[in-house]
Amino acid sequence: MSNAVVAPPDHPAIVSRGLNKWFGEGSARMKAIDEVALVAQYGEMVFIVGPSGSGKTTLLSIISGILRPDSGTVTINGQDIWSLDSDQLAQLRLNNIGFVFQDYHLFTRLTAAENVAIPLILQHHDWDDAIAQARESLDVVGLKDRGDILPVKLSGGEQQRVAIARAIVGRPQILILDEPTASLDGDTGKMIIAFVKARILNQQRCILIVTHDARINEYADRIIYMEDGHITEPERTLP
Ligand SMILES: Nc1ncnc2c1ncn2[C@@H]1O[C@H](COP(=O)(O)OP(=O)(O)O)[C@@H](O)[C@H]1O
Ligand SMILES: [Mg+2]
Repeated sequence: MSNAVVAPPDHPAIVSRGLNKWFGEGSARMKAIDEVALVAQYGEMVFIVGPSGSGKTTLLSIISGILRPDSGTVTINGQDIWSLDSDQLAQLRLNNIGFVFQDYHLFTRLTAAENVAIPLILQHHDWDDAIAQARESLDVVGLKDRGDILPVKLSGGEQQRVAIARAIVGRPQILILDEPTASLDGDTGKMIIAFVKARILNQQRCILIVTHDARINEYADRIIYMEDGHITEPERTLP
C-alpha cells in the first residue's frame, strides 16, 4: 500500500490557539489545559512530552475532535474543527485522523485483518475490499502473514503494529499516538517508533506522539514539553 494521501496539504496539519479545558465542579474544579498553542506541519513527527497528569491525553482528545475545549480553536488542514456540527466532525475525524491508543484497543474476537478493516467498514467500503486493504496495511507494518490471527496470539509489539495498521488504513494525513510505547519493553518501543518514522511519516503526513518515555525522544523532529496543562518550554527543533 502506498502512503500517499488524497490531496496535497496546503495548510499546517494542526494549529491550536488559546486552548483551555477545565474539569470538575466547585472545589474539585481544575484546569487541565491552560492556554495551549501549537502548530504541527506535514512531514514532521512532533512529540508532546510531560509527566503523568500534565494534560497530554486531554490535549490530544481536543486536537482530534473527541473532547470539546472550553475555549480556543483547533484547525486541521485549515478547517476549524470545533465549529463543525457533530456529523461533520465525525466525518473529518474518520477521513483525516488516525489514532493509536496505549493499550492498542484491539477487538479480541476479531482477527488482525478484521481489526484493521474497521475504519473502512465505517466508511461503507464493502467487506471484501476492506479486508483486502487491511491486508495491504498489515503488509506496510510488516505483518503480511498475520492477518488471520487473533490479537491474543500476537506479541505486544505486533499488537501495537496492528493498531498502527488500523490507524493508517484510511490513509489519514494526521496520525496521533498516545503513549504508544508504554505497554512495550524498551527495545520493542524504540523499534516501533523508528519504524513509524521510517515507514509511516512522509511529506503529506503529520505524526503527533505523546509520551513520557525519554528513551524514544531521539526520534522526534521536535519536542513540546507540557506540565500542569501548559507548555513549559518553547518549541525546540532538534538537530
Ligand atoms: N474526564 C475527566 N474528568 C475529570 N478530570 C480529568 C478527566 N480527564 C482528565 N482529568 C484530569 O486532568 C488532568 C490531566 O489528565 P490527562 O490529560 O489524562 O494527563 P496525561 O495524559 O498527561 O497523564 C489530570 O489531573 C486528570 O486527573
Ligand atoms: Mg495520558
